[in-house]
Amino acid sequence: MAAAQSSGGVERPISNILIVIAMQTEAQPVVNKFELIEDPHSPFPQGVPWVRYHGKYKDLNINLIWPGKDPISGVDSVGTISSALVTYAAIQALQPDLIINAGTAGGFKARGASVGDIFIASDCAFHDRRIPIPVFDLYGVGSRKAFETPNLVKELDLKVAKLSTGDSLDMTEQDESSITANDATVKDMEGAAVAYVADLLKVPAIFVKAVTDIIDGDKPTAEEFLQNLAAVTAALDLAVEKVVNFINGKSISEL
Ligand code: ADE
Repeated sequence: MAAAQSSGGVERPISNILIVIAMQTEAQPVVNKFELIEDPHSPFPQGVPWVRYHGKYKDLNINLIWPGKDPISGVDSVGTISSALVTYAAIQALQPDLIINAGTAGGFKARGASVGDIFIASDCAFHDRRIPIPVFDLYGVGSRKAFETPNLVKELDLKVAKLSTGDSLDMTEQDESSITANDATVKDMEGAAVAYVADLLKVPAIFVKAVTDIIDGDKPTAEEFLQNLAAVTAALDLAVEKVVNFINGKSISEL
């Protein structure tokens, strides 16, 4: 039974949403916008850096989970391992009706992406899990459909495209071939990992990705990413606000 389904089978409005955001720079504006507060007694194991912000906004209980700073290096815990772990722990602890993974991404201009664009992912897959053995190859790619939100994308006039996920900001030639095989327009470091966990635990998940850098452009990725991060984060924050406002008062099947 889906979380937003009553025992009588009649859909009820979504009440509990989980937003997963990997970087503090991306998360803080959303925390501020919804006036979320940090949970000093988070449901997570003692000593992990994962941070839970929460609050009530309109008819929704919002939980925003940021994986926090890596205890060894002190930087944001980006990438698939942390995002899978926090998504698992947060679903177990908070039983959300819906997951929103929001963050920045690289985009391919040849497939229609520009800096500042907001995409909703239709599908998520990995591009750096190469296992050239029959069927294991498909497991490695791990392609999953995101929860479809036709009304949301229409109402908010958002671009829809496929997302490819890997644990590197840069892109090797092999990654590029896999991204092309995944038919992806946007590339991130968390989406397919969140999709994997959401699928395992049968929680609908949507992916809101804001383009900070053009992968098939002429600027070095890290430089372009850092240059655009602040401005694009503002666009991401606005998009998340619109998505949450659209979700408020609706049931899962109305998205
Ligand atoms: N996040 C922002 N830009 C990215 C890129 N080019 N690759 C992966 N993740 C990203």
